[in-house]
Amino acid sequence: MYYADEVIEEIRSRNDIVDVIGSYVNLKRKGNSHSACCPFHHEKTPSFHVSREKQMYHCFGCGVGGNVFTFLMEHENFTFPEALEALAERAGVTLPEKGMSPDAKKQADARTRIKDMNKLAAGYFHYLLKTERGENALQYLKDRGLSDDTIQKFGLGFSDVYSDDLYKYLRNKGYRDEELKDSGLVKFDEKYGFSDRFWNRVMFPIIDTNNRVIGFGGRVMGDAKPKYINTQDTLVFDKSRNLYGLNLAKKSRRAGIIFCEGYMDVISMHQAGFDNAVASLGTALTVGQVNLIKRFTDRAYLAYDSDEAGTKAALRALEIMREFEMPARVISLAPYKDPDELIKAEGSEGMERRIEEAKSGIMFEIDILAHNYNQNDPQERTQFQKEAAKRLSIIIEPMERQNYIDSVAKQYGIDGTSLKEAVTQYGISGATRVDTTVFRERSRKSPEEEKEMQQLKTERLLISWMINENSLFDTLKGVITPDDFFEPVYHDVVKELFSQYEREGSVTPAAIVNHYQSKEDHEKVSAIMQQDFDMQVTQAEKSKVITDLVKTVKLRSVEHQMTMAKGDLQRQSDLIMEKASLNKLKVTM
Ligand code: UTP
Ligand code: MN
Repeated sequence: MYYADEVIEEIRSRNDIVDVIGSYVNLKRKGNSHSACCPFHHEKTPSFHVSREKQMYHCFGCGVGGNVFTFLMEHENFTFPEALEALAERAGVTLPEKGMSPDAKKQADARTRIKDMNKLAAGYFHYLLKTERGENALQYLKDRGLSDDTIQKFGLGFSDVYSDDLYKYLRNKGYRDEELKDSGLVKFDEKYGFSDRFWNRVMFPIIDTNNRVIGFGGRVMGDAKPKYINTQDTLVFDKSRNLYGLNLAKKSRRAGIIFCEGYMDVISMHQAGFDNAVASLGTALTVGQVNLIKRFTDRAYLAYDSDEAGTKAALRALEIMREFEMPARVISLAPYKDPDELIKAEGSEGMERRIEEAKSGIMFEIDILAHNYNQNDPQERTQFQKEAAKRLSIIIEPMERQNYIDSVAKQYGIDGTSLKEAVTQYGISGATRVDTTVFRERSRKSPEEEKEMQQLKTERLLISWMINENSLFDTLKGVITPDDFFEPVYHDVVKELFSQYEREGSVTPAAIVNHYQSKEDHEKVSAIMQQDFDMQVTQAEKSKVITDLVKTVKLRSVEHQMTMAKGDLQRQSDLIMEKASLNKLKVTM
């Protein structure tokens, strides 16, 4: 799904970055720069800057940055094509057809129609909730402790008591019977004809990570069965690849994603401030769902019901998490049944404490195991210890393994040495790469790495100067070339800047970001262009700074070439001359 550079650049230039970001965060204007508290990390004083001139943003606190596409990729967790499509729509630009076959096009259209119907339905249900017809439903939600704000945020609604109310509503909007059937909102029966799938229920729209309504859950307002019904799978709704609440949780600043079992748990969690909670859609956790959250987080918490069914579900979920190398911890809710009840009883503080005390997956599993054996019976106890050792044997990292062995030995009063022996007997079991549950700190930098960072910084500063003082492209032509830049991305950027300058007599930094598709590359590229210089310095001072930067970059480049040219005497001696002449190099502005 690639678009031509010109298309990408046109869409970028039609979406002013200050306007776009300004619609998400409250920007304060100061001269040419607009600033705010960074939406990507927690802070009290604003270090997030947006430049209209450069059409870029950057946070001096946490280092994020990029152009208008990057912002949507970061903030909405869009992929590059998704960001492009959203901004095309915003600017009213029609993207060229992506070369679809007629069949594929028909399917895409059908999908769009279903999403449109869902959106209308969600709006209609929400509207009903606020009318007299929805009085009972609204009361039900309020009785369960939901605030107006929460009801709004989750777009909750009510499906009316008549069994063809929505059917009629959507027919009036021009949708045909066939498409209504495909939407999953309406059922067809030989005897009774068309009727609504959901009626007389509180409605929970299910919204995907692109903010589209893809399906619904509906709850009875009493004890009738079934308690919930959900949209069955349709062209746009795949239960196994979506999660309730992820549209909100993906923007959370909290660490990890918390998995709950129920819709109501998610809502209750968000209302209590845990806006990283999600739930499966009426099924057990799936592989597709773990894959989905990998885009957004590096750790999972399970807040499953404390009953037997919930425990079983948690054990199964841990297996899947492990298979996909997602570290997981288990939150204990006992004596309460589910997160909703716990929050009612102990408030946010109670939940916060339980999250802090969450057990690693392995410790949770061994705990459950311990309850299955009579610890007072020597034979059963031996059996338990063997099973525990088997579990521990899947931990690959030696130190981590030892730590777990120590904890288990201590907790269950087992002799540490014999436990370790038993674990070793099982070897490092199978190919399951594990675990685990210990969230690792980022490692420290070695001196070589420090030096490397310093060099990169010099290269970056020089590029910033060139962007701020375009005349440098003339001054430095022939003095410094893209090949002098060691970092491949910087090399490409300098090459592109020189050619932009040659073509247009000026440079457009934000356009260069377009050449990259991942957020990481966007950040790297935009980090180069972040700097604004205090232009109060004299020409002489500027000349000195630039001269130093150029010298440092060139020196490394020449030294590198010398290592590469080992054995080539002529080349070596040329390079030695060049190195010597660097001493005399002087850039005059
Ligand atoms: P729960 O019965 O725990 O429901 O089922 P809940 O979400 O906590 O709701 P309250 O607090 O009792 O109102 C957990 C999840 O299992 C699915 C739903 O997704 C529900 O949120 N479920 C449950 C169904 O799909 N159908 C059912 O009949 C029951
Ligand atoms: Mn529940």
